[in-house]
Amino acid sequence: MKLLFVASELAPYAKTGGLADVVAALPKTLARAGHDVRIVVPLYDTAKLDGVTLTQVAELTIPLGSHRYPVRVLALGTAPTIYFLHCPPLYARGRLYTSDADEHRRFLLLSYAALELCGRLDFAPDVVHCHDWQAALIPLLLKTIYARDRHLAGARSLLTIHNLNYQGGFPDSIGPDTNLTHVAHLFHQELLKAGRVNFLLQGILYADGVSTVSPTYAQEIQTPAHGAGLDGFLRARKTTVVGILNGVDYDEWSPENDRYLPARYSAADRSNKAICKQALVESLGLPYVPSAPVVGIVSRMASQKGFDLLGEVLPGLLQRNGFQLTVLGSGEPGLEDMFTRLQRAFPRQVCFYQGFSNKLAHQIEAGADMFLMPSRYEPCGLNQLYSLRYGTVPIVHKTGGLADTVRPWHPRTRTGTGFVFEHHDAAGVRWALQAALATYRDPPAWSRLIDNGMAADFSWDRQARRYEYVYEKLIGTDR
Ligand code: ADP
Ligand code: GLC
Repeated sequence: MKLLFVASELAPYAKTGGLADVVAALPKTLARAGHDVRIVVPLYDTAKLDGVTLTQVAELTIPLGSHRYPVRVLALGTAPTIYFLHCPPLYARGRLYTSDADEHRRFLLLSYAALELCGRLDFAPDVVHCHDWQAALIPLLLKTIYARDRHLAGARSLLTIHNLNYQGGFPDSIGPDTNLTHVAHLFHQELLKAGRVNFLLQGILYADGVSTVSPTYAQEIQTPAHGAGLDGFLRARKTTVVGILNGVDYDEWSPENDRYLPARYSAADRSNKAICKQALVESLGLPYVPSAPVVGIVSRMASQKGFDLLGEVLPGLLQRNGFQLTVLGSGEPGLEDMFTRLQRAFPRQVCFYQGFSNKLAHQIEAGADMFLMPSRYEPCGLNQLYSLRYGTVPIVHKTGGLADTVRPWHPRTRTGTGFVFEHHDAAGVRWALQAALATYRDPPAWSRLIDNGMAADFSWDRQARRYEYVYEKLIGTDR
């Protein structure tokens, strides 16, 4: 199959979260399976491209309403080939996402340039795989402006929703910039009357297929509680909404071959995990106490992640139990402040590293004993999957992909891979943390728990086959 991926993130060049990992790993797996996969992403000024040679393959001019943007398309690699869109007026902002007045144009450009590029490269994709709101207008473009295009008339679209709460909602004054005013009747009319345009909704309405990143989240988003106002539209398309769990790129995330670790280990011999633990806490300026469990957090600091529960729970637990907490992340100031205060109150137990560091993310996965994800909602979540591989026991809220991937520990049967709390409240997370800390004090049980987690397999091969099946079904149906 010929597959075109369009997304706003791609690891390691442009990453704020799991989307980047997925857009790197899934095409890689599909290309290995023999498909012709191309990826189109913006070339942000923050992209780390040291030692990488890019080749210019096209120059485009993309009109968006009264604006015109010259774009240089720079290619990297084969199978899959990555096409970076070099357009400094839109992508040189010091960060991936902004709340600037032209934010909609930054990703309209991505969408149009990806489609225009197909003609230039003489590439006729069978499926255009669009990720999140940034690419969600593509299905409508395919059904209108590109409906008779030589390279695109036969293309089907799949929209994957990685997070329903980021929708790309804009005032209707952006209408002319979409180049779609001649088909304004195809925009959701009630919303338009209210003066709004919603990119993700347009994608849900017009994509040939809609998927999300775990089976449980696929169900949750069809309910008012998790539907973020779009559940009705998703229910209306429920036969086309599928949940495919993300996988893990074990080339990148495995303690056997992780280049960021001071020592490697495997399920067969975990002894070097202690070296990783000591290196982690000491590099963060905490005393190394071999018997003290280390709890890790690596995350965007967003309300989605549920850390607000911790402000009430952690001080008491830290005081009574001698565990340590290593936190990596940045985002909402209120959450950052909470971790800064904890660090000040417990300087020998808590270290909060504010920022983004791929290296430290790997070191926390390896060096911590437990990994905490009290997410309010979680479409899939990757860190709990990485944690399982690194023998780092996940403590999670039972939601979305966390519910699908972490099996609760049962001391009697010695089955399960982590600690799962059902109610998203302080009592829930306190119970789960206490249960984890108590089990840590029972070494045979703890060891079994780690073995169970390390034996789990979330490789992409199996998941990519599910996408292949979805693509094949889309190709086989009329538009
Ligand atoms: P989300 O996509 O909602 O942020 P995921 O669990 O799917 O959550 O993926 C998060 C990804 O981003 C993981 O690869 C994680 O290691 C990485 N990550 C998040 N915050 C940071 C950070 N501050 N520094 C380095 N990596 C981070
Ligand atoms: C989103 C979700 C996260 C998911 C990731 C990759 O950022 O918040 O749960 O793992 O996308 O699909």
